[in-house]
Amino acid sequence: MTAEYKVHGDVAVITMNNPPVNGLGHATRMAIAQGIDQANSDPAVKAVVLTGAGKAFSGGADIKEFGSPKATAEPNLLSVILACENSAKPVVAAIHSVAMGGGLELALGCHYRIAAPGANIALPEVKLGLIPGAGGTQRLPRVLGVEPALNMIVSGEPVKSELLAQLPGQKLFDKMASSPEALLEEAMAFGRSVADTRPLPLVRNMPSKHPMGDAYFQFARNMVKGMAKNFPAPAKCVDAVEASTKKKFDEGMTYEREIFTALMFTPESRALRHLFMAERAASKIGDVPEDTKQREIKSVAVIGAGTMGGGISMNFLNAGVPVTILEMKQEALDRGIATIRKNYESQVKRGKLKQDKYEQRMALLKTSLSYDEIKDADLVIEAVFEEMGVKQKVFEKLDEVMKKGAILASNTSTLDVDKIAAFTKRPEDVVGLHFFSPANVMKLLEVVRGKKTAKDVMATVMSMAKKIRKTAVVSGVCDGFIGNRMIEQYSRQAGFLLDEGATPQQVDRAIEKFGFAMGPFRMGDLAGNDIGWAIRKRRAQERPNMLYSRTADKLCELGRFGQKTGAGWYDYQEGKRDAIPSKLVEDMIVQHRKELGIEPRKISDEEIVQRLVFSLVNEGAHILEEGIAARASDIDMVYITGYGFPMHRGGPMLYADQVGLFNVVQAMKRFQKNPRDDAKFWEPAPLLLKLASEGKNFN
Ligand SMILES: NC(=O)c1ccc[n+]([C@@H]2O[C@H](COP(=O)([O-])OP(=O)(O)OC[C@H]3O[C@@H](n4cnc5c(N)ncnc54)[C@H](O)[C@@H]3O)[C@@H](O)[C@H]2O)c1
Repeated sequence: MTAEYKVHGDVAVITMNNPPVNGLGHATRMAIAQGIDQANSDPAVKAVVLTGAGKAFSGGADIKEFGSPKATAEPNLLSVILACENSAKPVVAAIHSVAMGGGLELALGCHYRIAAPGANIALPEVKLGLIPGAGGTQRLPRVLGVEPALNMIVSGEPVKSELLAQLPGQKLFDKMASSPEALLEEAMAFGRSVADTRPLPLVRNMPSKHPMGDAYFQFARNMVKGMAKNFPAPAKCVDAVEASTKKKFDEGMTYEREIFTALMFTPESRALRHLFMAERAASKIGDVPEDTKQREIKSVAVIGAGTMGGGISMNFLNAGVPVTILEMKQEALDRGIATIRKNYESQVKRGKLKQDKYEQRMALLKTSLSYDEIKDADLVIEAVFEEMGVKQKVFEKLDEVMKKGAILASNTSTLDVDKIAAFTKRPEDVVGLHFFSPANVMKLLEVVRGKKTAKDVMATVMSMAKKIRKTAVVSGVCDGFIGNRMIEQYSRQAGFLLDEGATPQQVDRAIEKFGFAMGPFRMGDLAGNDIGWAIRKRRAQERPNMLYSRTADKLCELGRFGQKTGAGWYDYQEGKRDAIPSKLVEDMIVQHRKELGIEPRKISDEEIVQRLVFSLVNEGAHILEEGIAARASDIDMVYITGYGFPMHRGGPMLYADQVGLFNVVQAMKRFQKNPRDDAKFWEPAPLLLKLASEGKNFN
């Protein structure tokens, strides 16, 4: 039983109790329906109050049942709502903390609703590429009015109960409780006060109207089209809400259900549901139990006040954790602090940060030139130059001075974390924390687990990541970890495409049409082409046989590093960021093809997209097979949160699943025949081959 039934005098109270948020799983639904029955057959009971235990009224569907037959088993949510509506005795929903999705739809099926202040009210289904499926689109407009209801349904965002209660003419809440603590008592009193009211009010019998009808919905459609871009669900929210104004209630319900079911099978909804689950999965580490005792992180030290050190520090300041930044020279510190200030000041100017908050944050920041002043920090994050020799000196020093039990982290993007750990006598305390640039903005944090990293260190940094609002994904140790190791293959393909006949603008356009925020060449110009150049030079020594297009090196030899030098793959006008195709670059590429003796061919956008995306997939499969990533969905999280992979595709691995791994393998076999391409790379990873031959997929 996941709801309790208790009679208080003449009022029965049904309390949903399915932690953490009283998800409406099968057992909970069953218990509610039984409670309603019991109350109706008990002559002593005059009214029923439905409420939730703990942290919520109800957060909606039970995610533990997602995709399982239990999710829709009878009594399904529609049946439970019907049972509430049909109760001969008044049912009062007593709402506090959270009423979302199915939870709100359930409350809308009750005869009356009383809410505590501060409750978050939402229909967030659109965030999973769906519309509400248990009457939300038909009942909410009837109690709130069409515009506020559509707003909530299209945005999926929560609104506080006390704000909704202020809407003129609203019937969502019959009463506001004086406080969350008083809610239950006041709900029971309310139940008694309406015990003899007949007929009982039903939301389904209320009208749904808009004074400007068609015109309003046309406006709404235009608005939503601009916002929703690649997602079909928001426009469908408009259709469903419009139906509430035009169709009879039950017909509207059927229409809502049809839309809901159709959306359920769209790749976009599948992608969003996948990412919702992927985010939860990523925070779990198989052999690190959730109750692992964590170390305390009350203060942080950051070594290096450069691009990354500054951004990393801001994360902790924002979370109220004191930070000391250490540098070699005062000038470097001054520069670093000035950048942090500039960053915050621009937030203040844009109204994103209050002046007093800014001052509070800066007050948490200290600087130092001496290791002696950071020795008591609970966590130290090194963000110095990407050179093993420099890292060695820093870690030897940290080992010498840091207090016992401090976590020693490196922000290295490519270096071997096990080697770095070996510079200390406490490798179990060493971990990689790979932030992405700009570190105060980007959601992704790759947590690099060394061979010897202690489990409690892993548990601690994973929960710290949540505190600073990052999406943490665990990676094993390898060159480039998950994200950069895969992007290397993507960049190589982009180069080969130029060699074979494409232009930078064609490649960028094709992949941007697929949904990437930015194609590889525009991205290179933004990040600085010299960064990749330096990495390629290092790798050329480590892996002399790796085949690359030389175009990117030639570009750098011309000093075209990108936006910062005013020219890269594209030309840039001063002060502007628009990428203008460059004749000089085009000639350089043509000349390069001649030197290679390649006859250029016309390359389709489809081939461009497949080669770029499947290169990620194949490397991803290797990464999965080697255990560098624990799950395919972790790889998808990395790409969505760190590399601008289009959200509606759900990440490279889910995309491959949706295309069908058989088809992916077939395409790779075709690419092996390209003259310029790296045939060896296109040998499908063994895991990919195996799954494809068994008719399985990654997720
Ligand atoms: N820039 C990025 O996009 C990015 C992204 C992820 C990770 N990283 C990694 O972060 C690290 C730092 O990169 P960055 O871009 O911030 O470099 P940066 O050159 O901007 O900053 C490095 C800073 O470290 C300081 N420094 C160097 N040696 C030091 C020492 N021994 N003690 C104290 N301070 C020292 C320098 O004075 C400089 O201010 C590198 O390992 C890099 O690979 C960079």
